[in-house]
Order: sequence, then C-alpha cells, then structure tokens
Amino acid sequence: MGETVLVTGGAGYIGALLCDELLQSGREVRVLDSLLHGQEDVAADLEAKGVQVHRADMRDAEARERAMSGADAVVHLAAIVGDPACALDPELSNEVNVGGAQAVVADAQRLGVGRLVFASTCSNYGRMADPTVPITEEGELAPVSLYAEQKVGIEQALLGGDFGDLKPTCLRFATVYGVAPRMRFDLTVNEFTRDLWADRDLEVFGEQFWRPYVHVKDAGRAVRTVLDAPEEKVAGQVFNAGRSGENYRKLDLVQEIAKKTDSGNVSYVKRDEDPRDYKVSFDKIKAVLGFETLMTVPDGIGEIIEGLEAGLFGDPFDGKFKNIP
Ligand SMILES: NC(=O)c1ccc[n+]([C@@H]2O[C@H](COP(=O)([O-])OP(=O)(O)OC[C@H]3O[C@@H](n4cnc5c(N)ncnc54)[C@H](O)[C@@H]3O)[C@@H](O)[C@H]2O)c1
Repeated sequence: MGETVLVTGGAGYIGALLCDELLQSGREVRVLDSLLHGQEDVAADLEAKGVQVHRADMRDAEARERAMSGADAVVHLAAIVGDPACALDPELSNEVNVGGAQAVVADAQRLGVGRLVFASTCSNYGRMADPTVPITEEGELAPVSLYAEQKVGIEQALLGGDFGDLKPTCLRFATVYGVAPRMRFDLTVNEFTRDLWADRDLEVFGEQFWRPYVHVKDAGRAVRTVLDAPEEKVAGQVFNAGRSGENYRKLDLVQEIAKKTDSGNVSYVKRDEDPRDYKVSFDKIKAVLGFETLMTVPDGIGEIIEGLEAGLFGDPFDGKFKNIP
C-alpha cells in the first residue's frame, strides 16, 4: 500500500496493537510517544518489528515535525488518559489533551497530511437521561469529567472546521478491555477480572450503570477500517467504535467473570463518584464502514484470566498498569 502512518501514543494500550494492525496492512508505521508509563519494552518491541519510534513529547514542536514529515495519515492517541489522571493534574491534561491535540492538527495540516483519526470516547455521552435507549452519534453529549470535556472540545473543533486537504475523523471508543503489550488494569473489565481472580475484595459502585465495551484489538481494527475506507465516507465524520450487543451493566460484568472464576468477593456500595451511565448504538460504523468487532467481553475475560494464570504480567498489581500513581 506504501502509505506512512504516524501514531501518536503508539506505545500505549491501544497504540501498540494498532501498530501491529497497520504493519499487517502493509503500511509504514511511525510512533511519537513520550513513554509516560515507562513502556521502553513496548517501544523496543515495536522497533524490532520495523516501526520508527520517536521517543519524545508531542508538545515538542521539533519532535512533532520530525515524526510527521512525509506521513500520509496521523492517528492521534497520545493523551493523559482517563478521568482520574486528568483530575489529578488538570493543567497538564489541558496542555497535553487540548494544546497538544491542537498542535498535532495544525502541523498535520501544514505538513500536507491527508487524514487524521482522533481517538475520542463514548464517555462524551456522560450521564444519559434514559440510559436504556442506545444513543447514536447524533445524541446529546453530556460529559461529566474534565477528560471528556477536553475530548468533546477537540471533536467539535475537528467536526466543525475546514482543514483544507486534511480530512479528520473522530472515533468514540467504547471502554476498552483485553490483553495488550502495554497492559492497563485500571479499566473496568480488566480490573474486575484481575481482582476477582486474585481473590480480592472488590467494591463495586453504580452496579446498574450501563457502559459499552470494546476489545483492544477491535479498537485498532476500527482505526484501520477508517484508514482503509474511501475518503468521502469518513471525512468530517464521527463514529462510535464498538458493537451494539456489547453494552453491559457493572453487575453483568461481575456475573460474566463469576462464570470463569469462583474466587473473590464482591460488595455493592453507594458512591457519588463517576456517574457515567450510557448505552451506545454502534449501528453507524457497521452500516457505513461494514465494521464488526471480533471479540466479546466474555472472550476478553477468558483471555485476561489465561494471561494471569500464565504469569504474563508479573505482578498484575504493579503501578505501571495504571494511569495514575
Ligand atoms: N482505553 C480506553 O478505554 C479508551 C476509551 C476511549 C478512548 N480512549 C482514547 O484512546 C487513546 C489511547 O488510550 P490508551 O488506553 O491506549 O491509553 P494509554 O495511556 O495506554 O496511551 C496513551 C499514550 O500516550 C502517551 N503520551 C502521553 N502523553 C504524551 C505526550 N505528551 N507526548 C507523547 N506521548 C504521550 C503515553 O506514553 C501512552 O503511550 C487516548 O486518546 C484515550 O483517550 C481510550
């Protein structure tokens, strides 16, 4: 295919598997990543597979230009990721998630990049008035965190603007789960599975709250699908990325995990934090791009337990698996 794609945040949870997906499609792949979570091992593995890795902060203008010059497409994943990490340092998250994203877009336009895929989130839907009716891309956004507010701001700029030859697409990922080279255990399915498998006491709040989930490999496949699609189908478009049948309440996740391990104790508690409650429709990405996920949450739970049993993660409670200290 001969295309060159720059993945910012390419050594992250979604990024590393996305790089594999893009390499398999015959593309040249570059990564710009500051290795915020110490993922030198992930970066070295990517290099061994032929990825050109730029170990730098995307807020560094020279590093951005070096990494982006000559690229046909940019996938912008790099960010301070998640509500807790953004709440912990709002100033940094603004600099990275807003300022950094704006700089990536401006450089992409200036350097003649053709396509930009922006990693947004279904968290933008926040707390829905009626979470039992799946929300579509046209539904109202009601972010309940700084993290989601920042994503909404960048999305609106991308979808409402004219960037000349640069054609942006926003993907609102469902909450991601599954095993990846840069593992994260601070995401609901992964965390619940680890804690119960390890026979811990798990406190669950908002057990009736709905949320959609997507496997980390499918998240990468969704990005590739956008890059493979004809420009007129994706330019200036936003797609929810996931599968309509994969909305679960936290209660359902616990029940799915209990089918695969009988250890651990769950208690349901009341807490006011994180009121996100939304059920999402993924009909558009299927209808317009023919995208269908391959994995389900039960598949992912099984895969995580296999990884834990095999000792794949060393100490799965190590702080490197979380985005906050
Ligand atoms: N994981 C999810 O459930 C989920 C859901 C929806 C959207 N997203 C979005 O997808 C993207 C990737 O998320 P992830 O789960 O892979 O998280 P991650 O934290 O594993 O990846 C983020 C990557 O960005 C890098 N990074 C952070 N700051 C940087 C900077 N200033 N310069 C260069 N690199 C920097 C980090 O080193 C890391 O590799 C993010 O934009 C996130 O908001 C993730």
